[in-house]
Amino acid sequence: MPLDPTPVPTELRGMRIALLVAGGIAAYKLVDLASALTQAECQVRVAMTASAARFVGAPTFRGVTGQPVLTGMWASDGAPEPHVFLGDWAQLVLLAPATANVIARVAHGQSDDIVTATLLAARCPVVVAPAMNDAMWSKGAVQDNIATLRQRGMTVVEPEAGHLASGHVGAGRLAGPARLMEAMAEAVRSRYDLAGRRVVVTAGGTREPIDPVRFISNYSSGKMGFALAAAAADRGARVVMVTTASHPAHHGIEVRPVETAEEMLAELRERLQGADLLVMAAAVADFRPAKLADSKIRREETKRLTLDLEPIPDLVATLGGEKESAGVFRVGFAAEGSDLDAKALDKMKRKGLQAIVANDISRKDAGFGSDYNAGVVLFADGTRQEIERMTKREMADRILDLVGPRLPAMR
Ligand code: CTP
Repeated sequence: MPLDPTPVPTELRGMRIALLVAGGIAAYKLVDLASALTQAECQVRVAMTASAARFVGAPTFRGVTGQPVLTGMWASDGAPEPHVFLGDWAQLVLLAPATANVIARVAHGQSDDIVTATLLAARCPVVVAPAMNDAMWSKGAVQDNIATLRQRGMTVVEPEAGHLASGHVGAGRLAGPARLMEAMAEAVRSRYDLAGRRVVVTAGGTREPIDPVRFISNYSSGKMGFALAAAAADRGARVVMVTTASHPAHHGIEVRPVETAEEMLAELRERLQGADLLVMAAAVADFRPAKLADSKIRREETKRLTLDLEPIPDLVATLGGEKESAGVFRVGFAAEGSDLDAKALDKMKRKGLQAIVANDISRKDAGFGSDYNAGVVLFADGTRQEIERMTKREMADRILDLVGPRLPAMR
């Protein structure tokens, strides 16, 4: 009979977790944990020491996580520095079972195997779950090393008392899965304010085709949308970008390329189900050619060309009225040349948004195509926050600082 997987706290869902397995008999318990996390849509990658591999085979972890397992300082494809890759990739590290030996090596900054090297290369919160014989756990040398790990900001999940593999009864058993999950969730909560959130960001100017080789578009570069998506992903959210622009990929962002406003609307309808936040940074065209020419319009055959343009529905307002996107906090953008506040406030109301970011497009030192932006953020609750000229990434974080605490409770 299949066992129910351990419940996974909402904040861990979608996280990229590096599971570093050391050589203790409790290593087998990490297989179930890895499986439960994977079933909760976490991305789990395992690295293990040579002694861990004597307790549990790498194919077992490969099987439950669906990801290659690192067992040495060289990846199977021969790529150098897999520890740096894994350390950069991870949003959370769990070291378990942490043996007296691995704890000592971590405390002294050693990095002579894939587990200790990854730990040293990690930039994220680290949870350490010791498991060993009770006499070993009680020794001053081990306790001093544990104190060092705590001082350096790692979370230590104390082992539990009970029957040990050696036949002794005492403190040394690996903490149970519920305690491990809770410690990981707490580490995630304290580092990532958008952990467990689903965020959809649109970016770039839509392209409305005239014929197979021409389109109508605008100057939007998509940089503000990409900055917002990257900021949300760095703050722990699961991010989908619906975009006409392409920029270098970033961990944790799923990119859905689109061209037209119609494609953007269809993609958003699908992606907004279960989402917490929509940031509509795309410059959606307001008009499109009423008729798409089947073949290239030829200069010689066309004396004068008049395009008949039809209006495009307002995507963000349309979505606000649909039940699939009910409960999604919607943030719009307003590109304005004058009367920023008044025009943005009016747009926010007309489109039924919870917030709007107004950019001053008359400025030469910020906005379209630039790496800088400036403006004002207005909320339906009356809050107003001026944002002086800063990089788009800094502005993205300022916007999320304001939006994050206003999101409805996690579903
Ligand atoms: N927007 C949208 N659908 C459209 C046009 C705009 O969802 N067809 C969204 C944009 O993504 C942005 C906000 O509405 O978040 C405001 O866009 P903006 O171009 O400033 O406003 P418009 O509604 O187009 O109004 P105007 O052209 O009069 O400034």
